[in-house]
Amino acid sequence: MKTLFIVANWKSNKTISETEKWLHDFDEKLKRENISLENKEIIVSLSFTLLEHANYCSSNLKLPLKFAAQNISPFEEGAYTGEVSAKQIKEFADYVLIGHSERRKNFLERDEMLFKKVELAKQYGLIPIFCIQGKDTKVPKDVEIVAYEPVFAIGTGNPDTPESAEKIANYIKVNTGVRYIFYGGSVTSANIKKFTKMPNIDGALVGGASLDPRKFLEIVANA
Ligand code: PGA
Repeated sequence: MKTLFIVANWKSNKTISETEKWLHDFDEKLKRENISLENKEIIVSLSFTLLEHANYCSSNLKLPLKFAAQNISPFEEGAYTGEVSAKQIKEFADYVLIGHSERRKNFLERDEMLFKKVELAKQYGLIPIFCIQGKDTKVPKDVEIVAYEPVFAIGTGNPDTPESAEKIANYIKVNTGVRYIFYGGSVTSANIKKFTKMPNIDGALVGGASLDPRKFLEIVANA
């Protein structure tokens, strides 16, 4: 049985108290409904400001969650005002999203910078989840995890078809050294299984539907 990765991508949402509530509600539903997380890696990708407290609450509740940052500095530590370095993030997270289309579009991040981020993440022991928007997006060398997220599907309620996502996933695996491919874009509890049952899809990146812990857990349960 393959391991499935389900990633909550909160984007630029939630305060510390909202994060605490999300984790408590997640814990409550998980236990009350006895939802099995066997063969599932659950990752929550949140803002830098939330990482420390989320770690603290999650370990108090003994939740089997991993955390991801949503961005990383393309530079090492030093004179880069406003940036958060890989070394700093590593204290709170195991994973980092790199190359999400919202960063490419709104912050003009290009391949060269994204590849530097991947390099630094790896150097400091963070696992990059490299986002691509289609089969023509360049994938850096030695990346293990790629999330395929077509722009038309993000936040629109209009997901790609599982067949098309599978085709891209297969193409990426055949043409690069990537080991795991996630699908992202309008994933819900109703459509998750159609994606995760595809042989080359190893997980999902869930944006809007991850903000409510109950909705997110339904996705996890149905995956
Ligand atoms: P969505 O976002 O689930 O709201 O479509 C996915 C993402 O951008 O990671």
